[in-house]
Amino acid sequence: MIRQYHPVAGKPPAVSSVHHLAFRCRDAEETRRFYEDVLGLELTAALALDEVSGTNAHERYMHLFFRMTGGDFVAFFDAPDHLDDPKQFDRKWGFDQHFAMAVDSREDLLAFQARIREAGVTCLGPLDHHFCQSIYFYDPNGVQVELTWRVPQHEAIMADEKAAARERIRAWSEETRERKAARLKPVGPLKVADKSA
Ligand SMILES: [Fe+2]
Repeated sequence: MIRQYHPVAGKPPAVSSVHHLAFRCRDAEETRRFYEDVLGLELTAALALDEVSGTNAHERYMHLFFRMTGGDFVAFFDAPDHLDDPKQFDRKWGFDQHFAMAVDSREDLLAFQARIREAGVTCLGPLDHHFCQSIYFYDPNGVQVELTWRVPQHEAIMADEKAAARERIRAWSEETRERKAARLKPVGPLKVADKSA
């Protein structure tokens, strides 16, 4: 059963860009070395906090923000008292979780690949996705990271894709609905409210 939403009147305001993506990290300094020293992002905040935002839950943790040159951030939580799940930092399948940061040219993409490998990290690609070309690697926290270069035809290709997208979803739903029905569990309420920071 897939969820239905109530119709909402009027147009929504604009969502303009990513402000930040947030992940758990094993260790603040290890993550800083990777994102600042290897990838060159700017460490812009390392907040040492005692309370989970929006709750009264006491928690001593660090919240890190790294800025890309376009102004978007990737953020991490270092929560030393929540390291009990041995699978927490296992490498996640890219379908389940990955994020992509943009680079300006194919030369930059290849320069990053060489740099990442020189740092001792496996780096796959470049893969040609038609509208972009990408390299892939894992950060120290099991998060798959993609660096991608938009090919010059990016906008034209995406315009063609956009024209076909709704009909593709309709056909996809028809093709897969029955197969998924038995496996797709209903979405339940959040069990632990104070983990939503
Ligand atoms: Fe991707």
